[in-house]
Amino acid sequence: MTSQLNQPLKQWHYIAIIAGVAVCTALVTGLLVNIFERKGEALNPYVRLVEVTEDDTDPQKWGINWPREYDSYKKTAITTSTRFGGHGGSEAMPTEKIERDPWLKRMFLGYAFSIDYRDRRGHAYMLEDQEKTQRLTKPQTGSCLHCHASVMPLFRKLGNGDAMLGMQEIYKSSYQDMNKMLHDMGNAHPVSCVDCHDPKTMQLRITRPGLLDGIQKLAASNAPAPYLPSIEQWRKGDRKQNYNPNTDASRTEMRAMVCGQCHVEYYCSNKSPLTFPWGNGLKAEEIETFWNNTKFSDETQFFDYAHKESGAKLLKAQHPEFELWSQGVHARSGVACADCHMPYMRDGATKVSDHWVRSPLLNISRACQTCHKFSEQEIKERVDLIQERNYQLMQRAAKALMDQLDAIQAATNEGATDTQLAKTREFQRMAQWRLDFIAAENSMGFHAPQESARILGEAADLARQGQIVAINWRTVVAPQ
Ligand code: HEC
Ligand code: HEC
Ligand code: HEC
Ligand code: HEC
Ligand code: HEC
Repeated sequence: MTSQLNQPLKQWHYIAIIAGVAVCTALVTGLLVNIFERKGEALNPYVRLVEVTEDDTDPQKWGINWPREYDSYKKTAITTSTRFGGHGGSEAMPTEKIERDPWLKRMFLGYAFSIDYRDRRGHAYMLEDQEKTQRLTKPQTGSCLHCHASVMPLFRKLGNGDAMLGMQEIYKSSYQDMNKMLHDMGNAHPVSCVDCHDPKTMQLRITRPGLLDGIQKLAASNAPAPYLPSIEQWRKGDRKQNYNPNTDASRTEMRAMVCGQCHVEYYCSNKSPLTFPWGNGLKAEEIETFWNNTKFSDETQFFDYAHKESGAKLLKAQHPEFELWSQGVHARSGVACADCHMPYMRDGATKVSDHWVRSPLLNISRACQTCHKFSEQEIKERVDLIQERNYQLMQRAAKALMDQLDAIQAATNEGATDTQLAKTREFQRMAQWRLDFIAAENSMGFHAPQESARILGEAADLARQGQIVAINWRTVVAPQ
């Protein structure tokens, strides 16, 4: 068999081979150039028209470099609402929660939240709404600004360049004084680009001292943290350096933690620096334990306010979105806040994160359907079912608490003493903490449906136990 291979190559064959090699070389070179260009892009991925620095809190300036993100960011000023989300009505201020649910108002008697407590709305309003709230008719601290303004330059000023120190100082000054200083410095903006992004690299980063401190204590605790794998990883190391999200956390975790700078339970007063109560874990009862172990400077047990009717010394829960999310199946599956609240959108050839932070139910196709292959209607119904069940259970728990308060009032009228009321007041503190934890959380149970139901079930049970104790006040031996 004589194959063609054994025949001498003809001249045109040589030419074909040379041409082929040339084409291949060109292709490989082109590919390499392309790879290098992309690497360059990754290091400095943005063409900048203006320089931005740590002190540039005005988002408009950043918008010159990143117009797409800025355009969507500005949309947080648009009024939106869903059945349980956003804020209803077209009025100048969002609806009063305490008028819609009168049990909330009674629960907060003796505290500023019974004066004014409204629905939240978009990020564009955060500073304005804080400045306008009637809760400011009671003395409030400068620490309030931690989550309502682009506040880092003010923290640095107060701490002579050290923001962590600045936050240790700001609680001593009144809200009004610190708010004025912020305006005078030209930093009176709602949460801004510089709060979540490093101006040099545009990488996500944590700026807020509250989270840096709180998460460090969470990492140092024994509480299981499967929702943040980098904490479990850090615990396996030598622990010479404190856990620091800016160096230890994964990108996915950062996509949740940037929101955890504010959407969390906290204590904020003129008695001590702002505190994220995470030293025992993020679950409702772990936070309760943290507060129960916290003492005021005079060694008495920590409380937020004394209830006007019952005299019980109570805790107030604040928007624990990060905490409830951590207990849900999405967190367990590595789905972060930004996946649902800032999903990618296409802008020509570019993928952009939607900076119009809002209810994902207004945006189901991009927020949910990337992972869940059901129709928009089906997804909406599933969420509504979760929220409706949570809402009903919450009303049941609230009814139980109101009945307990009635029983305490009756016992008081019948002459029960402080000692005889001590036990039922303890039950009120526990029941109310749980009810408020879910009522103050803004997803109506969606972020962790089973955990939410568990907490509400406990709330109802504890309130009913407290009611029985109050009814039987004559026979109860109060704890010493
Ligand atoms: C799997 C998707 C998903 C993830 C992850 C998620 N959320 Fe949500 N979130 C929702 C849905 C759905 C609602 C209910 C919206 C509604 O009722 O209109 C909601 C509601 C909210 C609300 C109230 C929204 C409004 O319009 O009133 C806030 C605030 C919020 N989430 C913050 C967070 C934060 C902070 C995180 C991360 C710690 C997070 N969410 C993680 C889906 C998600
Ligand atoms: C600096 C603090 C801060 C950070 C960081 C922050 N938020 Fe908010 N967020 C707020 C405040 C304050 C409000 C309420 C504003 C108001 O009612 O005036 C709010 C409101 C919201 C709302 C309700 C919007 C609406 O239209 O009703 C959602 C949803 C939300 N935030 C989600 C997020 C997510 C997701 C992240 C992270 C990507 C995040 N937030 C980061 C402070 C913050
Ligand atoms: C740890 C962060 C944080 C701190 C500190 C904080 N807030 Fe907020 N605040 C939020 C978030 C997040 C929301 C939006 C979610 C909500 O309304 O539940 C909000 C909502 C509000 C709102 C609009 C809804 C309402 O409650 O009527 C007002 C007003 C407000 N805060 C005032 C204050 C005042 C006054 C202080 C100081 C005592 C304060 N905040 C401290 C994070 C914070
Ligand atoms: C509350 C936090 C937060 C604020 C405020 C914020 N961003 Fe972002 N930004 C994010 C998150 C989360 C991502 C997704 C990043 C990732 O996954 O690596 C992102 C991504 C980006 C990106 C990368 C490309 C993209 O779209 O995914 C750019 C550029 C950007 N943001 C610009 C801005 C600008 C400009 C502002 C101010 C107008 C701003 N951001 C304000 C949280 C924030
Ligand atoms: C990045 C992917 C991702 C996104 C985005 C996402 N999910 Fe999920 N979702 C999951 C995973 C993973 C699970 C866990 C179950 C599983 O493995 O299938 C889950 C579970 C659920 C469940 C059942 C568990 C429960 O909590 O009761 C519901 C309901 C749900 N998702 C709704 C939504 C909605 C609504 C959105 C949009 C607001 C959304 N998801 C966005 C990945 C995602």
